[in-house]
Amino acid sequence: MATERLVAAAAKPEDDNLDVTLRPKRLAEYIGQTKVKENLAIALGAAKKRKEPLEHVLLHGPPGLGKTTLAYIVAHELGVDIRVTSGPAVERAGDLAAILTNLGNGDVLFIDEMHRLNRTIEEVLYPAMEEYRLDIVVGKGPSARTLRLDLPHFTLIGATTRMSLLSSPLRDRFGMAYRLDYYSEEDIQKIIERAARILKIKIEPAAVKALAPRARRTPRIANRLLKRVRDYSEMKHDGQIKVQQVIEALQLLEIDELGLDEIDRRILETIIDKYQGGPVGLNTVAASVGEEMETLEEVYEPYLMQVGFLPRSSRGRSVTESGYRHIGRTPPATAQTKLV
Ligand code: ADE
Repeated sequence: MATERLVAAAAKPEDDNLDVTLRPKRLAEYIGQTKVKENLAIALGAAKKRKEPLEHVLLHGPPGLGKTTLAYIVAHELGVDIRVTSGPAVERAGDLAAILTNLGNGDVLFIDEMHRLNRTIEEVLYPAMEEYRLDIVVGKGPSARTLRLDLPHFTLIGATTRMSLLSSPLRDRFGMAYRLDYYSEEDIQKIIERAARILKIKIEPAAVKALAPRARRTPRIANRLLKRVRDYSEMKHDGQIKVQQVIEALQLLEIDELGLDEIDRRILETIIDKYQGGPVGLNTVAASVGEEMETLEEVYEPYLMQVGFLPRSSRGRSVTESGYRHIGRTPPATAQTKLV
């Protein structure tokens, strides 16, 4: 199961404590995503200056890159309360109505996984976003009536890993949309150093450098791996993390030097062994490796694409020459021409 992987970018229940302790509270503490930070800083500053609520913000991009963290930062910088929910958690229009009517003026409402919000609920959200108005239908049949409620002027921060699945009327109602991208290795190093400082973990600079490339350019994974390496170091050594312990701990966890785990490698091997390196359709790959198509697309492929091992094309998925080499295979002479 994807959610049980140590290198899964999606949040795991045990990340909760870690996320809260390590989550930066101010924009200035937030490492990376420079463009998003700069734009948000201007929007925040201007809203504060005009004493108006911030416009609705849509954050999109792969999981684990800090969308929730940014929402908390925005609320903190504005000095308002934040209410957090997610698309699948809002089952009925009444659930959303309860949340909206409980907000204070200027508060932030964060809805994660916006693409999983059902369409009837989206309809309730439109007038709420545009005119801070809630239309509730009471009763049934001929006696049904619409009650109109005024809502506080709130800021919606929506997050999604699947921008393409968001309906365009919903997308259009956000004043700003920012894409979060994978972090640079230097930024991941800074994030590991910061986390080590906060958690009082002793790690030598060379060990930070060894750990960073294994974190899939994702802060959530970097922080999780740091904890696993700390455990290893405390049990096998003296708790002072050195390069050798990073290598040993990650070997034991079967995570390679680019952060690929056993399932990532199996995907590459399957395409190479069964389909001559591709191109092969997503549904065929999914059936061969025994994973859901959606899981492959949302969980595994983004990083494999990011490292340049598995590009998508109209004809399907194929493994690149560097993908072959990474798992110790010799690429066929034609591998490069297959890329397009
Ligand atoms: N912890 C997790 N993500 C972070 C980020 N972007 N900056 C600082 N600390 C973090």
